[in-house]
Amino acid sequence: MIYTKILGTGRYVPKTIVTNEDLKQYVDTSDEWIYSRTGIKERHVSIDESSLDLSYQAAINAIDKANIDKDEIDLIIVATVTSDYAFPGVSNLLQAKLGIENIMAFDINAACSGFIYAMQIADKMIKSKSFKKALIIGVEILSRLTDWRDRNTCVLFGDGAGAMVIGESETNQIKDIITGSQGDVDMLLYCKNPELKSLKHNKISVQDHIHMQGNEVFKFASRIMPKTINQLIERNNITMDDIQYIVAHQANARIIQKAAKELNVSMDKMYVNINHYGNTSAASVPVAIDEAIEKGYINRGDLFATVAFGGGLTWGGALIQY
Ligand code: UT7
Repeated sequence: MIYTKILGTGRYVPKTIVTNEDLKQYVDTSDEWIYSRTGIKERHVSIDESSLDLSYQAAINAIDKANIDKDEIDLIIVATVTSDYAFPGVSNLLQAKLGIENIMAFDINAACSGFIYAMQIADKMIKSKSFKKALIIGVEILSRLTDWRDRNTCVLFGDGAGAMVIGESETNQIKDIITGSQGDVDMLLYCKNPELKSLKHNKISVQDHIHMQGNEVFKFASRIMPKTINQLIERNNITMDDIQYIVAHQANARIIQKAAKELNVSMDKMYVNINHYGNTSAASVPVAIDEAIEKGYINRGDLFATVAFGGGLTWGGALIQY
């Protein structure tokens, strides 16, 4: 039987920091409003780095920590809604930049749940014996999809990349992954593609920005995150006490607090770094896992859960022994 495990994790965020105070230049807002409603103090924004650049730095960091040769990687999956090009994918460009030849590389889009979707695909592809070591990336440059005149959204997001190398294992460490989708017919959270040039109208491409009905997304998130964790607990015949730590998608500190309350766990069990990064969408979970490991909240042998929700609407959760 082939199992899987995490070999290494990494992250990278662009250098430029935009504080809540800085945002007052663009919209009618305040540090008090943003911090009390979201837990965010600052976010990193990419001025001139691409999704490929962020992914590459995070990938190198994860490969180093996995202590493997990059040529051992035979699969790359990048989760993003901010690919630099419609095609090629960030994954294909990353493969070339890393100098790894003749491997499978592709991008997926499941918004903020994208990294967990990618993890599930890679996990299953390794367990099917088709691949041995996968590099999974969650990367986002949402600052380029943000309407900087819309205070409802522009204060929330940030840019970054997180990476993970997973590989074959003799012991069962990536124990279970759940993913789900509920097509967002009410358009609670969306961003249109640039208009494709119509032969008939000869239109000019216009980039859209993020639209969100925050309250409705908040309610969905507060319901789906604890539900997913409870499903992982039931499916794996464990109790909440068996889980040492929970790394949730960083969309709003109040959503994480609500999830903790619903799950009846202390906030000491929940990782929170949204104060420094804002919501980095697909990058949020891998960046948080990498930091939680680095800070010693998750140690080798610990059982932890991760959970996310996002545009789609999508959600996902995983139960992993590190
Ligand atoms: O990764 C998934 C993506 N998104 C999310 O997970 C977001 C989920 N939703 C949320 O996090 C919250 O709903 C928000 C943080 C977006 C909004 O917080 P809220 O407590 O739900 O506020 P609200 O939308 O109900 O707005 C309350 C008030 C409104 O003013 P009025 O109508 O009461 O006068 C807003 O116009 O706050 C106002 N407001 C702001 N004021 C200052 C909205 N944004 C701002 C702002 N600064 N940036």
